[in-house]
Amino acid sequence: MAEKPISLTGIKPTGMPHLGNYLGAIRPALRKTEQYRGVYFIADYHALTTVFDGAQMRDQIERVAATWLALGLDPEKNLFYKQSDIPEIFELSWILGCFTPKGFMNRAHAYKAKVAANQEAGEELDANIGMGLYTYPLLMDADILLFGADIVPVGKDQKQHVEFARDVAQRFDQNYGTDVLKLPEPVIEESTDVIPGLDGRKMSKSYGNTIELFLPSKQLKKKVNKIVTNSQGVEEPKDPDTCQVFKLFSLFATPEESAALAARYREGGMGWGEAKNALYELLERVFDEPRRRFEELMANRSEIHAILRRGAERARDEAAPRMAEIRRLVGTDIYSA
Ligand code: ADP
Ligand code: TRP
Repeated sequence: MAEKPISLTGIKPTGMPHLGNYLGAIRPALRKTEQYRGVYFIADYHALTTVFDGAQMRDQIERVAATWLALGLDPEKNLFYKQSDIPEIFELSWILGCFTPKGFMNRAHAYKAKVAANQEAGEELDANIGMGLYTYPLLMDADILLFGADIVPVGKDQKQHVEFARDVAQRFDQNYGTDVLKLPEPVIEESTDVIPGLDGRKMSKSYGNTIELFLPSKQLKKKVNKIVTNSQGVEEPKDPDTCQVFKLFSLFATPEESAALAARYREGGMGWGEAKNALYELLERVFDEPRRRFEELMANRSEIHAILRRGAERARDEAAPRMAEIRRLVGTDIYSA
């Protein structure tokens, strides 16, 4: 039987995942697992560029792992692991660094944005920029190339990183006359590339405008009620296409449910409270079962640990032959030549 192509993506444990992460990254990745073999991991050493508290790091790793599992990732059919458990990734990251022009890192979006902010603030250009942030894309190249990803489902902001990985793979392969590193394709879903947050800007932890996954009902209701709407009165007809309550609703509802709510908007006589309540009830329905599973896992973290340990073992078994091949190619393996 032909092996399925590989879909690979990582999520940083930098906080509780929110609806933007789910709709923009997790759900598209999970939907790929019918046609692709999923290789999904927790990018904890990427998170170390910003999370400097050990207890917080541990908690967030467990939360992100429980989130993937609660949302339906099958760790038997797919590979599911924690990045830091795979030392081969770090070894490959060094090797790839030797094939990467420094100019690539200078051009990486996250680094450039920090430099621009420093310039704006009249600070030294590299003020408060760690080497972790600077070489972040190198580690991501290794994440992607070690497992031979065919596609990498990511948000728009990550496209440049996947393009770096393609370029570096090409340089490596060309130099050694091999095709051991496969060129990955970024896959970005148009309909969910920017999920709006409570204030209408991109939903992001850094803007404090998120609706976290698996909130208890009361808190979820409160959050949904905070979504900013305009000042139109109850009787006025409303435009669903410019409303973020409707946008979120339609990303979870069936086409019939969306059409019915859109009609309520257009006919007038529907207040914002009613639209928000429809969204709240839908989210309750969609996340009721996953929330129960999430809570179960978080109450029994040794189950999460066992799944990740097993995943790491299987991932290392798969990474080892590719890494051995790479060592042979670069010539640091003097033993098996
Ligand atoms: P945050 O901006 O909250 O810190 P991350 O940068 O950790 O989120 O994003 C993790 C993944 O979720 C990435 O693939 C990213 O593109 C996706 N993502 C984050 N926020 C959104 C959003 N508002 N809409 C669509 N995708 C998003
Ligand atoms: N950098 C990604 C983010 O910020 C997370 C990530 C790390 C990743 N390694 C990856 C995504 C490899 C895709 C493939 O969201």
